[in-house]
Amino acid sequence: MDRIWKALDARARAVADRPISALFDDPGRAAAFSARFGDMLFDYSKTNIDAETLNLLLGLAEAADVAARREAMFTGARINETEGRAVLHTALRSPGGSVLVDGRDVMPELRATRARMRDFAEMVRGGLFAGQGGAITDVVNIGIGGSDLGPAMAVQALAPYHDGPRCHFVSNVDGAHVADTLKGLNPETTLVIVASKTFTTIETMTNAATARDWMAARVADPAAQFVALSSAQERTAAFGIPAERVFGFEDWVGGRYSVWGPIGLSLMLAIGPDRFDDFLSGGAAMDAHFRSAPPGGNLPVLLALVGIWHAQVLGHPTRAVLPYDQRLARLPAYLQQLEMESNGKRVTMEGTSPPRPTGPVVWGEPGTNGQHAFYQLLHQGMQVVPCEFLVAARGHEPELAHHHRLLLANALAQSAALMRGRSLDEARAIAARAGFTGAELDRQARHRVFPGNRPSSTLIYPQLTPQVLGAIVALYEHRVFVEGVILGINSFDQWGVELGKELATALAPVLCGECPGEELDGSTRALVAFVSGRERDIQGGEGFR
Ligand code: F6P
Repeated sequence: MDRIWKALDARARAVADRPISALFDDPGRAAAFSARFGDMLFDYSKTNIDAETLNLLLGLAEAADVAARREAMFTGARINETEGRAVLHTALRSPGGSVLVDGRDVMPELRATRARMRDFAEMVRGGLFAGQGGAITDVVNIGIGGSDLGPAMAVQALAPYHDGPRCHFVSNVDGAHVADTLKGLNPETTLVIVASKTFTTIETMTNAATARDWMAARVADPAAQFVALSSAQERTAAFGIPAERVFGFEDWVGGRYSVWGPIGLSLMLAIGPDRFDDFLSGGAAMDAHFRSAPPGGNLPVLLALVGIWHAQVLGHPTRAVLPYDQRLARLPAYLQQLEMESNGKRVTMEGTSPPRPTGPVVWGEPGTNGQHAFYQLLHQGMQVVPCEFLVAARGHEPELAHHHRLLLANALAQSAALMRGRSLDEARAIAARAGFTGAELDRQARHRVFPGNRPSSTLIYPQLTPQVLGAIVALYEHRVFVEGVILGINSFDQWGVELGKELATALAPVLCGECPGEELDGSTRALVAFVSGRERDIQGGEGFR
């Protein structure tokens, strides 16, 4: 692999001064540097990847043995080696067949849980499962990270398909979140879903206890309106949730990959079990494509290779995800967990330091809002941010088709502008038309120059349906997988979130004065003192009150 990395570095140097736009002298470029999955088009022609670079990148995937690792994942091998687990979120959306983990077929149990979810969702949606004041009108999903971001993102994305109870999401331990969410809801007709794989996450357990108290103040049997989505059946029982309302999943479903199973219950309640099945079938179709399409036409592989070119070869430390789709407003946050928790690592599978930077910072906002916020930097800032545009060919509001045309025009215009830029001569002509002359014309023109040559890719899908959303989410999951394999890291653990959790647990008693906190560093001690009003006690200072 080292040889290929070096060849890619040489390639990067060779094309450093070549404008991306020059590649379009080849009239076949747009077709050659794009790939299709059904009605979906992934275009990466507005990058500086040419045929030679693409061959090298494909060689990298081959040398890393992506195909073998992919089969190992799909067939239940324990590829999450630091936790000794298989990685089988794909089984959650599998339409049939069997998947063996240690010789045991896990599919019958998955199908049984899916059937129980379906029955429960239909009972809630049909009013057969009711609250203590009537049919369920509102659902509050309490969870964090993967137990929140997936369903919250998907519920918002599929708003046009909602015909069930209203869904709300509480994640932050900040009491403001639970207070603002519960305010205005009727405890007698609210269903609370406690979503936590481990059922130990402090944010979720604190919010769940608060919601239970809120409900207990108004209904005789609060537990009767609670559901748990968890792998920890003893803990759900200890919380008071009976087994028939616990939907379990196994440890080979990672939190950030869990929306396809019980963690997706709020989505199933919102859009109904049939449309939830459509969401699963979109994911399953992308799985089939990922497993069988040749690498050069394989969307997850190509998306990953574009990412590798930008982050690990060219060294761009961030990438922006820009959905021109308001209902995908939470997609960047969802992808932050998916990509950064998966590939934000500093140790290879072998326990060595990776030879290249690993996963980049992922960030973004829906267009067109982002245009009026941070696009200034994308166009004229000093650092290059590769951009990933997503846009639907048509919206869900036929009467507002003119809005959608403008949305599309903006998405396409932004990627074109990022690539093309504006030369000094063009800027001078603009400044001259604005009435500037002489030295002032030159000065003004410089501010109006766009360097251009800023890479982007565009994913265009027909419409944001449940099936399409499933395909998009699976596409990004597999992109993360391919990048992780090429980087030689474990994309399925998350040890990096542990230390902060441990310190927070230790700090809570210090904040209420139960422990002195002598082991804390000087800065943290000072902050504790300031915030708890005990500055004088701890530091002999004046205090801030
Ligand atoms: O942030 C760490 C993490 O373990 C995530 O991977 C996970 O999605 C989240 O916490 C929530 O965990 P749980 O579902 O166990 O509450």
